[in-house]
Amino acid sequence: MSDDLAHEIDIFEGQMELMGQGKLDEKVFAETRLRRGVYGQRYDNGQRHDGFESRELAFEEMERIKGPDTLWHAPGMQRIKVPGGGLTPDQLDMLAQVADEYSDGILHITTRQDIQLHFVHIEDTPDMMRRLASVGITTREACGNSVRNVTCCHLAGVCRTEVFDATPYSEAFAEFLLGHDDVQDFGRKFKPAFSGCEAEACGLVMMHDIGYLAQVQEVDGKPKRGFKVYVGGGLGTVPHQAKVLSEFTPEEEILPLAQAVSRVFARLGEKRNRNRARIKFLVAKLGIEEFRRLVEEERKTLPHDDRWTAYMDTLPHYEEKPSRPPTFLNGQVRSSEFNQWFETNVYSQRQEGYSVVTVNLPLGDLTSQQTWELADIARKYVGDNVRSTVEQNIVLRWVSDSDLPNLFEELKEIGLGDSGAGTIVDITACPGTDTCKLGIASSRGLAGELRTRLTAKSASLPDAIKDLKIKISGCFNSCGQHHVSDIGFFGNSRRSGNFKMPHFQVILGGKWHDNAGSYGLAVGAVPSRTVPEVVDTITSRYVEERSKGETFQDWIGRIGKKEARNIIQPFMQLPAFEQEPEYFSDWGDPRVFSLGDIGIGECAGEVVSLFSMEISPAESEAFEAQVALDENDPARADALAYSSMLKAARALVRTQFLDVGDSPDRIVQEFKSRFFDTELFFDQYAKGKFGQYLLDRHSNTNGTPDNDAAHRLIEEALLFIEATHACESKVGGNVLVEI
Ligand code: HEM
Ligand code: SF4
Repeated sequence: MSDDLAHEIDIFEGQMELMGQGKLDEKVFAETRLRRGVYGQRYDNGQRHDGFESRELAFEEMERIKGPDTLWHAPGMQRIKVPGGGLTPDQLDMLAQVADEYSDGILHITTRQDIQLHFVHIEDTPDMMRRLASVGITTREACGNSVRNVTCCHLAGVCRTEVFDATPYSEAFAEFLLGHDDVQDFGRKFKPAFSGCEAEACGLVMMHDIGYLAQVQEVDGKPKRGFKVYVGGGLGTVPHQAKVLSEFTPEEEILPLAQAVSRVFARLGEKRNRNRARIKFLVAKLGIEEFRRLVEEERKTLPHDDRWTAYMDTLPHYEEKPSRPPTFLNGQVRSSEFNQWFETNVYSQRQEGYSVVTVNLPLGDLTSQQTWELADIARKYVGDNVRSTVEQNIVLRWVSDSDLPNLFEELKEIGLGDSGAGTIVDITACPGTDTCKLGIASSRGLAGELRTRLTAKSASLPDAIKDLKIKISGCFNSCGQHHVSDIGFFGNSRRSGNFKMPHFQVILGGKWHDNAGSYGLAVGAVPSRTVPEVVDTITSRYVEERSKGETFQDWIGRIGKKEARNIIQPFMQLPAFEQEPEYFSDWGDPRVFSLGDIGIGECAGEVVSLFSMEISPAESEAFEAQVALDENDPARADALAYSSMLKAARALVRTQFLDVGDSPDRIVQEFKSRFFDTELFFDQYAKGKFGQYLLDRHSNTNGTPDNDAAHRLIEEALLFIEATHACESKVGGNVLVEI
């Protein structure tokens, strides 16, 4: 372990001590531990709702905390950084050991190639960090306002379509910026990605804060390596596609460029309002030309640093070593089980005689026992050539082809022989309500259910849908990357009578390929329990209606969002509690969903609130805005989105003040004084973010919006409407209408 890293961990242990003695501010300590990947976990405020009321969880020393509203002894999450997803068998062994000793024994692969352990006690974290550091793994800057894990294609170096292997560059980038002085004062997190080509998805450059795409250009008659550099992408509540910062940055300039970008971000990025603090907002505010100018100016002022190019001396010798010689499958007839697995989980490398095998992990999980055994399998067949993937799987690279049948048998023996990697059954899901404090609906419960159902009928699934991507987030934050899937979902809740019902917003037509090249749009929210049927209905319509070779995105584009909404419309009718009680609990969770909100009666559908009547036109209008954008009319899209926000605000105001009238100024003024200034509209975590969207748009009278701005306003309008629902549920609208 390096002295630096050891010292870092000692400091953290000292801060834990001070916190224990009440000598450190709780917020300062919270950021300190986040920067070491020590995260909170659901229920760590010592409360759990049993469906009827909130119950206290009995932890020792209930007054001792590790952050605001976070109990010291409550179990937490530990995120472990895995740059480029690269893992060795020795590292896997150590990960299995610490998972076994300090957590619930499950290793969870995240959508950014990290590993997370849950149910960890904070007092175990320094020892865990030391043990991980002994095999070259750090948790430093895995969370907090810092440079997060640097991701890189899991196929880099063996891929058939890459320009060159981006791995050594991504490693140099990660090492250079880890703990660098210029990245310590960010207002928000900063996520980098490297990719070897434009067309595939693996690097997901377009949704990252900074992204590097490998390019070769001819300079002075010789091929020169470099990268096309993107900046300002991101998912989250309002997704942005990254913009081109530089068409070609030669290899020796990629680190100074990152340093210059970091300085500009640290200096000019928003610091107070977290909801506007990602670099995507700075790039959108300044415009890419001005941002580029500032970065170029900054670059000129940087003092020279040998580390910018030191790693390049090792580049010519950078190569992975297979542990077995290349061989070929001998064409022998094999079991259909093997053939099926071979078809979906085996990728033939650029290097003849070798393949990449994907170990398909349901929900991204594997046990510590499986991890130990996988480490042994890796040692036997591939040595150090193991990586995690952004689809929450693990790959074994450099498998000699004739080893494939034996490797398959050995993976099967430890329960890791599932086929279907990268297909419709290989569903991505964020932790959601299982462990995440922000989860609204059960993304993992739903993903598990869909996987079981789709796997059961996988043999009969039409070819056209076999490779569709399904991705699920438990809330609008998009950790499950729902914007970049064919069929995406994010969790929210709706009221039916006096009950709350778990729902998922349906997002269709996002693009996984082209490095997450475009985002899908929301078409409406459906009850969580209907999602399997919704998936069946959408995929059947696609199979029936697609023309030859038409992709899912093209089909959605052709039928338009309006028709897409019509497809899910039948699922949007909410049954009453007495009719379908199971609709009011979530997948894998027997508790009644938010039963604490139940009043008596008024749940059979005969009586609806005035709010429900008035919010529905707002939703339709937000939807019309999407259609207008599809028809390339950003001005109309913008006007409709704004109007939908006004309608939603009006519906909310009228729960308190029926005579608000129709004037936008009056609606906004009443909304502000009654719901915004009083913080009634505030979300526990997002605070006033969603309300601010309306206030900003109302005060913005500048000219005609372009497509990007209109797209953003539509996303904001959808979130504002969601927040209006949440606020109305919280405050409890009391104006009822007979229908
Ligand atoms: C433990 C609870 C977690 C919290 C409180 C949390 C919070 C958030 C928030 C607020 C955002 C939106 C940020 C923004 O764009 O401004 C976000 C995005 C994201 N998070 Fe999480 N997250 C959690 C867990 C996770 C996990 C477990 C993963 C990996 C599986 C993950 C991966 C991501 C990704 C991929 C995004 C969107 C990509 C992007 O930032 O551009 N998060 N998260
Ligand atoms: S999407 Fe929401 S529920 Fe899922 S991990 Fe992110 S913050 Fe948590």
